[in-house]
Amino acid sequence: MRYVLGLSGLYHDSAACLLRDGHIVAAAQEERFSRLKHDSSLPLRATRWCLEEAGIETGDLEAVVWYEKPLRKLERMLVTQVLAFPKSWRAFSTGTLNFLTNKLWVGSAICKELEIPEEKLLFSDHHQSHAASAFYCSGWDEAAVLTADGVGEWASTSLYRGTAEGLKLLDEVHFPHSLGMVYSAFTAFLGFRVNNGEYKVMGMAPYGTPRFADKVRKVLLLSPDGSFQVNRDLVSYHWSATDSYTRAFEELFGKPRFPGSVFDPSTEEGRFYADCAASVQAVLEEALLGVVRALHERTGLSRLCMAGGVALNSVANRRILVDGPFDELYVQPAAGDAGGAVGAAMWAWREVLGGGQGGGLVPGLGKAWSESETCELLTDLKVRHETLDDQQLLERASEDIASGKVIGWVQGRFEWGPRALGHRSILADPARQGMKDHVNASIKFREAFRPFAPSVAAEAADRYFELPSGGEQPLRWMLLVTPTKTDALPSVTHVDGSARVQVVDSGLYHELIRAVGERTGHPVVLNTSFNLKGEPIVSSPVQALATFRNSGLDALYLGHQRIEK
Ligand SMILES: [Fe+2]
Repeated sequence: MRYVLGLSGLYHDSAACLLRDGHIVAAAQEERFSRLKHDSSLPLRATRWCLEEAGIETGDLEAVVWYEKPLRKLERMLVTQVLAFPKSWRAFSTGTLNFLTNKLWVGSAICKELEIPEEKLLFSDHHQSHAASAFYCSGWDEAAVLTADGVGEWASTSLYRGTAEGLKLLDEVHFPHSLGMVYSAFTAFLGFRVNNGEYKVMGMAPYGTPRFADKVRKVLLLSPDGSFQVNRDLVSYHWSATDSYTRAFEELFGKPRFPGSVFDPSTEEGRFYADCAASVQAVLEEALLGVVRALHERTGLSRLCMAGGVALNSVANRRILVDGPFDELYVQPAAGDAGGAVGAAMWAWREVLGGGQGGGLVPGLGKAWSESETCELLTDLKVRHETLDDQQLLERASEDIASGKVIGWVQGRFEWGPRALGHRSILADPARQGMKDHVNASIKFREAFRPFAPSVAAEAADRYFELPSGGEQPLRWMLLVTPTKTDALPSVTHVDGSARVQVVDSGLYHELIRAVGERTGHPVVLNTSFNLKGEPIVSSPVQALATFRNSGLDALYLGHQRIEK
């Protein structure tokens, strides 16, 4: 058996992924083990667990692959900052010094920590890792591939053709021209944290109208051929990675929103910022449509794979599928840099080590805890619990949900990617009025304007949601926002009548949703990640138990063990 380990990190969301003969055995983000949200340190805990899961040691690894090229990245940082000196001093002192002391030596750090010889260490290219993470997981023989993020080494957007021979780079856009960084500049302007609050901008957009789209087009200059440029008078990353909008930007748009202030769309101020969010969302979609049309013209292919942080914009994903030229879409669920670990490993396996077809991306690629470990824990902690058989589990959990209770649901291996997909989820009845506010106020403690997502049984999905054809994979991974067809699900329907739906077609979670449907008439549940605000999603039973105790959850299901408040 041949093993390849892919690693990403040192910027944000570090992760490890282990392949056995090209198939994913284990993959997880470091934050699930360290409990630090967006943990970016070298993913040593995740690596250790991946090796444990496969029952191997580092000596058994054929290759270890880092997801980007540190020297190329340093070159970009030095060149851009020297050009902008002395204004760039702040960015230089924080970004570059951090890089010089940390990332540049990542190769020797990996060799030392994993005790592997240098010959086993490979370096992929940042966007190549993103591209491989989508194309080689898609199972397609041939597809066009688009990657878009803030920036990798130099590239911020890359176009590839993927075939049995490998990924061929067709074109790329270089820093400082970047769709991701423009969206992040607006994220900061709207008072959210860069690399964390982008999805809040997306959630805010439906409260507004894109009446400032023309102004955004002055920031992001779009050409009819699909290319784009960033106006550097308005957005500049040379000074600081987080406060990238300039004084001229503020003169154009107005005062930035105060970080942490409450967003109230019924006020004039709230509407103004919602309109800013709607405008940048609309122009991002326009830009992406331009890029995918160009990519389609270059390749003539009917299938599109996407990765890179911008591919987590599930509203834009629908636009690309519905209004764009491609018939089918595949999105790497961990589209951000965590997914680079999967891509780096896949790239090396297919393009360097001569491995054959692999893949195996399923929702549960993380660690699982056995029923006996869970029971032992509950007994040790003297937690009263009830052990259920398969049928009782479905009966009790569906009865809880149907009667208006909010439950914690921990089953099997934890999920790959940023979404909870029924392995580490908080579940409730989405047909109930007020359930969104209840879950928000008593359990999630997060901004009231943000919507919750529904999980629906596949056989009934079409009754509730518009399902764009060719979107089967992103719909299964909660990567598409789509209009709802009903007003029966108020707690998972956003202000514009849309929902970020997860279509579920198999497994225990599917059976549970069906069982809920038998009681409520709607085989749909409200599904939100099992964590408190600002914390990573829970991994282990003990973390689930702690979160259960610190929140307003009514019942907790740890495998077949039921615990009540
Ligand atoms: Fe990236």
